[in-house]
Amino acid sequence: MATLTFHGHATFTAETADGIRIAVDPYFDDNPASDIKRAEVGPVDFILCTHGHADHFADAIPLAKETGATLVSTFEIVAFAQTQGLENVHPLHIGGGWEFPFGRAEMTPAHHGGLVHGDETGCFTTVPGGFLFDLDGKRVYHAGDTALMLDMQLLKGKVDVAILPIGDNFTMGPEDAARAVEFIEPEVVVPIHYGTWPLIEQDPERFKEMVGDRAQVRVMNPGDVLAL
Ligand code: NI
Ligand code: MN
Repeated sequence: MATLTFHGHATFTAETADGIRIAVDPYFDDNPASDIKRAEVGPVDFILCTHGHADHFADAIPLAKETGATLVSTFEIVAFAQTQGLENVHPLHIGGGWEFPFGRAEMTPAHHGGLVHGDETGCFTTVPGGFLFDLDGKRVYHAGDTALMLDMQLLKGKVDVAILPIGDNFTMGPEDAARAVEFIEPEVVVPIHYGTWPLIEQDPERFKEMVGDRAQVRVMNPGDVLAL
């Protein structure tokens, strides 16, 4: 059975039954909500990054270098990481996927900004995304940072666990995220990207009420583990 552990904001680690370890949007050391620092993450085999903003990407390159993990992200973010000396990379792009040892991972669209944290040149203009990935037969959708969009209807029937931002201000707020649940029809929803800073304060219980019986809302605190 695979597990998904929340580390605050948008950061997760996952582990398959075979012991393959994945970090998603690694933001540990500067993350006010994280339960652990980067040095405590342990072994990592793959790092999935939805986009280049610091709160999703700041620890990606150092963590990949320290653990030998393969960075999986859009072509441009991977290209930037290579300029920073990272060798283990797998470029993907929106709508494309690949069969990794843990299962298929595909990048999904997101409406958001493309700045890459650490890119002094400004050359790496990127398209932000999300991930639809398999973990021991369960299908997880990490939306990344995004607005509500009709494209989410295409995910209907494909998602067991939907990880959705509800913070408002930079991404969907609770109302739009509840609408996203209507589009996607997942079994379980995990609200993220709220409460980290005053600009994205939200009450997840309010989101839970809005979703109602359309899905099981799992409010995770940093350090909580979801068994899939
Ligand atoms: Ni962002
Ligand atoms: Mn963000």
